[in-house]
Amino acid sequence: MKIIIDTDPGQDDAIAILLALASPELDVLGITAVAGNVPLALTEKNARIVSELAARPDIKVFAGCDAPLLRPLVTAEHVHGRTGLDGPTLPDPQMPLQSMHAVDFIVDTLRAEAPQSVTLCPLGPLTNIAMALRKAPDIAARIERIVLMGGAYFEVGNITPAAEFNIYVDPEAAEIVFRSGAPITVLPLDATHKAMVTPARNEAFRAMGTRVGQAVAEMTDFYERFDREKYGADGAPLHDPTVIAWCLRPDLFSGREINVEIETRSELTRGMTVADWWGVTDRSRNALFIGDLDAEGFFDLLTERLGRYAA
Ligand code: BDR
Ligand code: CA
Repeated sequence: MKIIIDTDPGQDDAIAILLALASPELDVLGITAVAGNVPLALTEKNARIVSELAARPDIKVFAGCDAPLLRPLVTAEHVHGRTGLDGPTLPDPQMPLQSMHAVDFIVDTLRAEAPQSVTLCPLGPLTNIAMALRKAPDIAARIERIVLMGGAYFEVGNITPAAEFNIYVDPEAAEIVFRSGAPITVLPLDATHKAMVTPARNEAFRAMGTRVGQAVAEMTDFYERFDREKYGADGAPLHDPTVIAWCLRPDLFSGREINVEIETRSELTRGMTVADWWGVTDRSRNALFIGDLDAEGFFDLLTERLGRYAA
């Protein structure tokens, strides 16, 4: 499976990248960075830091859009720390940033590869993907699937009472993506809040005794403090790795093919994913909206894959 990871690392993005790079089923054609959790200069740097942590300096990392399509950037240092990757101490990257713009890489790759052979895995605001669809509308029909982390229905919001962060930051971009006609799988908070790193699960990462295991445990140690305080939860949800896990093991997930629209006009509910879970409208189905996951199966997969990294 050929994938492009579009990302704003972020500790959970980092763990998603590590999961993908440890999985031989996936051919990571490139990593495209977008502004989100922290500004673009940090997300592209973090993507390179994580590629080097995975001992994959050959991965092509591209910088994309530094702000949402129409709005000022909203960031989430209150969750991810000043660097976006607070927790472990990791060296500055040596590998270069590619000179091509991320949006051009996405367009060129989809045009060069066979139709419906490339899956896009967005883990942050959808700015780069929307820009690519706007610049080159022909690519929509060439995308195998867009598997994205974003939105919420029963869980409603995390950045506002109504909206999940990735969709809230760039709702106009999300609207373009959800109306693109490309097949979409959505991993919303409803599913990702079931992928909780409990102390025992984090100890399993630390016990690997490898650089990757240690770094993942330290990332989670940092990142979970926010969810502990906010939700009183016993750990942190690993949002973004569920995207990669769905690509590897869709049988661990369940959901419904439904209509999802994005609220772009209301100030109060900006970025809300209006998900017709109960099928009460005649709006056409445009997404597989995941509602549940097998948490044990997910962590077994993640732990086994991260365990493949050498000491
Ligand atoms: C999403 O927002 C970011 O903070 C995380 O990396 C994840 O992609 C969760 O709402
Ligand atoms: Ca993210």
